[in-house]
Amino acid sequence: MEFCVTVLFCSCVILSALLVLLLLLRSYRLGRSHLPPGTYGLPLIGETLQLISAYKSDNPEPFVDSRVSRYGPIFTTHIFGEPTVFSADPDLNRFIMSNEGKLFDCSYPGSISNLLGKHSLLLMKGSLHKRMHSLTMSFANSTIIREHLLLDIDRLIRLNLNSWTDRVLLMEEAKKITFELTMKQLMSFDPCEWTERLKNEYVLLIEGFFSVPIPLFSTTYRRAIMARTRVAEELSWVVRQRRTSCEAGERKNDMLGALLAGGDHFSDEQIVDFLLALLVAGYETTSTIMTLAVKFLTDTPLALAQIKEEHDQIRANKNDPEALVEWNDYKSMKFTQCVVNETLRMANIIGGIFRRTMTDISIKGYTIPKGWKVFASFRAVHLNPDHYKDARTFDPWRWQNNSEAAGSGNVYTPFGGGPRLCPGYELARVVLSVFLHRLVTRFSWVPAEEDKLVFFPTTRTQKRYPIIVRERNLSKSHVRTG
Ligand code: HEM
Ligand SMILES: *[C@@H]1O[C@H](CO)[C@@H](O)[C@H](O)[C@H]1NC(C)=O
Ligand SMILES: *[C@@H]1O[C@H](CO)[C@@H](O)[C@H](O)[C@H]1NC(C)=O
Ligand SMILES: *[C@@H]1O[C@H](CO)[C@@H](O)[C@H](O)[C@H]1NC(C)=O
Ligand SMILES: *[C@@H]1O[C@H](CO)[C@@H](O)[C@H](O)[C@H]1NC(C)=O
Repeated sequence: MEFCVTVLFCSCVILSALLVLLLLLRSYRLGRSHLPPGTYGLPLIGETLQLISAYKSDNPEPFVDSRVSRYGPIFTTHIFGEPTVFSADPDLNRFIMSNEGKLFDCSYPGSISNLLGKHSLLLMKGSLHKRMHSLTMSFANSTIIREHLLLDIDRLIRLNLNSWTDRVLLMEEAKKITFELTMKQLMSFDPCEWTERLKNEYVLLIEGFFSVPIPLFSTTYRRAIMARTRVAEELSWVVRQRRTSCEAGERKNDMLGALLAGGDHFSDEQIVDFLLALLVAGYETTSTIMTLAVKFLTDTPLALAQIKEEHDQIRANKNDPEALVEWNDYKSMKFTQCVVNETLRMANIIGGIFRRTMTDISIKGYTIPKGWKVFASFRAVHLNPDHYKDARTFDPWRWQNNSEAAGSGNVYTPFGGGPRLCPGYELARVVLSVFLHRLVTRFSWVPAEEDKLVFFPTTRTQKRYPIIVRERNLSKSHVRTG
């Protein structure tokens, strides 16, 4: 009897001790590894509707601001059908980008993959991605732009400005310029009836990307898929022609030429998907940045006056008023580069990037489980007053004494970073700079109507920024005095 009591007592002690130990272990594990704080909102749709309605307004910041002030710069939410870790933290953003392919990879919904084509750079992974990314980078690096692309950039921009009279929808014009430039750079086509027809199909294709949340019910999406088929047919016709002439020893200096001449033996389908993705990646982005730069300048008369002065000076230094923009001119556009940086900082054309964790990730005291979605927000960092003084004001002068504005290098990432750094980053800067040069030296303008920024599904202005342009009176006496 006594023995039994002792055994019972001992087992109780041991059991309780075990229980305490287990509880301790558990709380230790939870303490060390838990998800970032946050709210999930409603079942299924989570906080998606709040996000969308914020980004459809002209002031989306409160969505992130309120959460950052409650939970800190790394928080959990539930958007677009999944729980998601939202990062407004520059260190975490950098960590995500530099560990691409190791700890994180990108995942696009099937509806996007179908529009892009499976051989597009955006969907590639591993060593093939590495190879194709560096090929794309070297296609648009500064040497190539200086030696080959700049001439056509200047020529096609001027050609387009020639047709501007009175009222102009700036965003439409910028898209036209961007499309023509890309066709030239990728496959040496000058604007013609064929490129015009291709552009009309292409526009339908692009619309598909923004119908994506509910693709199955969307006629826009179905129309886009059909347009993709037709665009791909046209492009593969070009690829076949060029393959034949390439085999006959004829080599053109463009992206298609580089793809055909390399030792990789890509199939027609691979080349078409690849080219199409480049066309997609550069189109909305570059044309939007062109439009928004003009909007920000128009809204900031001091900056507009200063950029005008810089470009008038460049013209004044040339003997021939028709002279082309050269690489040295581009390099001399000091204030313009500040305007470009500040426009990219404020506009956040690509507001951030979605990734998926490939394993459990422990960072800054949190653990993000394997298979979770994360969103690295560039916008939240670029517009954070901790990183930029008066962060929500367009102030190109902040870039003049370079060091402090550019932050620690972690902070400013309009073109992303790591293995998926935008291959078009230099090209986009040059196109914007030459465009501003030709625009301000030739025209003065006023907005035709009030137009506001919106941020969903893409960053743009509501009315495509209509302006009234007037040719400037550049009588020689005025210009040549410089
Ligand atoms: C202002 C203009 C532009 C901005 C703000 C921009 C921004 C970006 C960003 C943030 C990324 C990273 C996406 C990610 O990590 O998932 C990216 C990728 C990419 N960009 Fe751009 N871009 C611009 C213009 C261009 C142009 C002109 C081209 C054409 C050559 C281009 C081609 C690409 C491609 C192909 C990728 C995918 C790279 C990869 O996944 O390896 N972009 N861009
Ligand atoms: C640009 O790429 C070309 C090859 O396409 C290469 O020869 C050149 O060295 C590169 N230039 C720079 C500045 O990286
Ligand atoms: C613009 O930003 C880039 C970083 O993307 C930086 O290297 C460059 O120095 C900046 N330009 C100016 C004029 O501040
Ligand atoms: C940049 O530095 C110059 C002199 O080095 C100074 O006059 C100017 O005010 C500074 N600009 C800014 C925005 O700090
Ligand atoms: C342009 O400016 C010149 C000199 O400043 C002036 O003589 C001429 O009348 C102006 N032309 C127009 C169309 O305003």
